[in-house]
Amino acid sequence: MSVSEGLSSAPAGFSRREFVKTAAVAGAALATPSLLVARSAWAGGADTLKLGLIGCGGRGSGAAIQALAADPGTVLWSMGDVFKDRIDSAHKSIVEEQGESAKERILVADDRRFVGFDSYQQVIDSGVDVVLLTSYPCFRPAHLRAALASGKHVFAEKPVAVDGPGIRSILESAKVAKDKGRACLIGFCWRYNASMREAFTRVQAGVLGDVTSVHTTYHTGTLSKRPRKPEWSDLEFQMRNWWHFTWISGDHLVEQAVHSVDRMAWAMGDRIPKRVQCLGGRAARSGPEHGNVFDHFSAIYEYENGVRTHHSCRQIDGTPQDNSDYIYGTKGWGSVNGWSALFPFKDYSGGTLWDGKGSADDTSRMYFDEHKELFASIRAGKPVNDCERGARSCLMAIMARMAAYTGQTVTWEQALNSQESLVPEKLEWGPMATPAVAVPGQTKFA
Ligand SMILES: NC(=O)c1ccc[n+]([C@@H]2O[C@H](COP(=O)([O-])OP(=O)(O)OC[C@H]3O[C@@H](n4cnc5c(N)ncnc54)[C@H](O)[C@@H]3O)[C@@H](O)[C@H]2O)c1
Repeated sequence: MSVSEGLSSAPAGFSRREFVKTAAVAGAALATPSLLVARSAWAGGADTLKLGLIGCGGRGSGAAIQALAADPGTVLWSMGDVFKDRIDSAHKSIVEEQGESAKERILVADDRRFVGFDSYQQVIDSGVDVVLLTSYPCFRPAHLRAALASGKHVFAEKPVAVDGPGIRSILESAKVAKDKGRACLIGFCWRYNASMREAFTRVQAGVLGDVTSVHTTYHTGTLSKRPRKPEWSDLEFQMRNWWHFTWISGDHLVEQAVHSVDRMAWAMGDRIPKRVQCLGGRAARSGPEHGNVFDHFSAIYEYENGVRTHHSCRQIDGTPQDNSDYIYGTKGWGSVNGWSALFPFKDYSGGTLWDGKGSADDTSRMYFDEHKELFASIRAGKPVNDCERGARSCLMAIMARMAAYTGQTVTWEQALNSQESLVPEKLEWGPMATPAVAVPGQTKFA
């Protein structure tokens, strides 16, 4: 069972993590020959692309399955995780999903299963062509830097960092990927959803007129908890319950709701906001088992042209769920909801500007499609690189968290140049205090 299960998502009764698992299977099922990228020699010279999986949890297993489905020339070559049990369970589920093909496609020899904090480097050094970075967000900057330094192509899950130093590192990596001609695709999967692309293309084409405001929501249920086992050190407890600790996840605004912040950025033409104010706190979460994350945020971004956009997110059980984007323009307004695949665009008299009906299949297919685009770009020698854009969307979420924690307005430059590194320099299994919960008005910006 994925440690991530229990996180609920937009449609009531349907958890995001369950969705991701379903999507993994759906992605594989959708891999009909007509959808597959033609198997052809890639710019690196070999027909086969060897995959290394770094972070063998729910998303890592899904990403590996989707990568294998997206390109028939891929094989899973090595795996790394800080916990051996995660490698074992991921390997088992990937082999089971592959069925008969596992013999040819899952080639993870025992000596290419690496455990520990250095496992990422061992995977990178194991002779792979492409790495799938699906560990915790706090480690992404270091893993991405190492992968590109060794000339690997990369799929990296969102969020790509949890703090300002992490984002600066990702922006440097984005340049390295470009200079070296390596692919770096960030898992903002909605950007690869065909129906969603159609809706946002219409927004950018001005169907709603000039965009005057956007409001995105990620209102969902609370996080699952993994009860402490006597043999676990403090660090292991925090790592196994990572969503509850800001230093690992970035808090739920950065870890989960960043998808909705990213779509806000999309609606705004990926312009950079000037500053943000954000309210937030813990209304229904208390106790050390919940670490130090908040359970609700409400952010207002201000743009250079005076436009204000709003994002709210909540992880509280017993409250209504919503995961939609409401986009307002000079001609009308539209609501975008990928889960229902309905995108009604109306004028302010109720007339229809676009009766957008997407395909709900696109929402499971997007996990497959992002890998299809990644491998097609590698094989064509035109590597996709959406790393800088991904970093910007993550910084938008990080700056709102900073504003909520401190109670202060935070500018883009302040967030980008922040010296606060949440990730300890060295991690060793053992004692580790639970970080204090931020108090707006008292917690200082750093
Ligand atoms: N795009 C999406 O829709 C989507 C959905 C779910 C998760 N995610 C993202 O995927 C990432 C992983 O989430 P998940 O749900 O799979 O979590 P998970 O806990 O199921 O898996 C993460 C795995 O990474 C391992 N890990 C942690 N630190 C490591 C390190 N330093 N080196 C090697 N392995 C390490 C953990 O032990 C764990 O097995 C997160 O960034 C999350 O936000 C994205």
